[in-house]
Amino acid sequence: MRRLNVSAIIAASLIGSLAPSHHASSQSERSVSGGNPSHGAALVEQLGCGGCHTIPGIRGARGLVGPPLDNIADRMIIAGVLANTADNMVAWLRAPQSVVAGNAMPNMGLDGKDARDVAAYLYTLR
Ligand code: HEC
Repeated sequence: MRRLNVSAIIAASLIGSLAPSHHASSQSERSVSGGNPSHGAALVEQLGCGGCHTIPGIRGARGLVGPPLDNIADRMIIAGVLANTADNMVAWLRAPQSVVAGNAMPNMGLDGKDARDVAAYLYTLR
């Protein structure tokens, strides 16, 4: 069920975000209401995201397994499949294995609140 829902989100979001008329609204979709970016940065450091990603502003985050997360706020697509909106970023951070089964990013155990905080931090990177 969950995977079906994510697929629907992907399809709907891709159609929306790739249409030129949507470009103007994409920045506002990348603000995470209620997200706490400084708590998000602390979580990113604690959880060891930097073992796999190079992430500006996070001590020791120079990993080369996944893509660098500099400019993630300005990218169009998450993990090659999801339109880069706040809701999709939270969905990815909560359950990357449900979005792209078998990819090298494990589910990190983030609940909804923590995923929003992490997304809020990532959206400061532009
Ligand atoms: C074991 C390695 C690993 C860890 C740990 C990890 N990731 Fe990832 N991450 C990846 C890989 C590999 C991808 C690319 C997945 C794909 O494209 O299918 C990825 C993709 C992403 C993306 C999408 C990037 C893009 O440009 O599309 C974001 C955002 C992200 N990770 C954030 C995080 C955060 C935040 C954490 C910590 C909570 C984390 N990752 C932990 C390996 C990891």
